[in-house]
Amino acid sequence: MTHVPLLLSGGRLKHSKSVQHIQRIEREIALPDLPDALDGLRITHLTDLHIGSVVTPDRLAGIVEITNAFEGDMIAVTGDFVDLSLNVLDDVVDAMSQLSAPLGVFFVPGNHDYLDDGPRLIRAFQDAGLRMLMNESEPFELHGCKVVISGIDYPHKKADIRPFLRAALKQAPRRDACDLRVLLSHHPSAFDAAAKRRIDLTLAGHTHGGQVVLSNKKGKKGSIGIASLAHRYPRGLFQRGHSYLYVNSGVGTFFPLRVNCPAEVACLTLKSKPVDSDIRHVRATSHP
Ligand SMILES: [Fe+2]
Repeated sequence: MTHVPLLLSGGRLKHSKSVQHIQRIEREIALPDLPDALDGLRITHLTDLHIGSVVTPDRLAGIVEITNAFEGDMIAVTGDFVDLSLNVLDDVVDAMSQLSAPLGVFFVPGNHDYLDDGPRLIRAFQDAGLRMLMNESEPFELHGCKVVISGIDYPHKKADIRPFLRAALKQAPRRDACDLRVLLSHHPSAFDAAAKRRIDLTLAGHTHGGQVVLSNKKGKKGSIGIASLAHRYPRGLFQRGHSYLYVNSGVGTFFPLRVNCPAEVACLTLKSKPVDSDIRHVRATSHP
């Protein structure tokens, strides 16, 4: 399968700088309920690789290098590993196996991972020993604190989100017995349910930040992009009560063009005290 825009451009679009360049984002997120013992915990967030005809497998080595170079405590990868076809699956699994972080590397699938053969992709990850969180949680102790990393399968319909999250949290201690709960979800709309369940931080992708954003000046509200028209949480950091959501623009594309919306890999440092942040895309909503 081939992208129509790629054909129309004679293949030139995939070589454009806007598609090739990946920003390295470092930002701090103050979580109101984070114990001091976990202050400074760093999570590297990679998403939406879309390996295929636009982002070709030869880009994987660079993506892995950028991600590992943050030297985060853990790595979260939130889906859309492939674009349309699984003919790149071996390359993708090999590359994901090279991601490395002391507390682990965790994965969830995205919608594009189901376009060819989703179960086969998930099986390949699991067979390679990669921790794909399919409505599951991974609890562990860190500096005397209880931490839980949860992940949900791609919800093909919105009604799937709550049961997926409920199933994942069955394996997790209750909120009051836990110091930090992080959720990986390809689709950012899981944030509404996550905030109700008092998840401290949700990491998502899917929107590509809009890809084509008409106005993105620092501090200016209301940038218009494809994602902001279609999604409630298009890009950046959002707060709802004590819960936060980070929507990553992703490294890949389904359409070979990015305007005012560079590809990114992000490293998020969790803070227990308020921080001066250069948050550009906050939508603070009332407490749930
Ligand atoms: Fe995507």
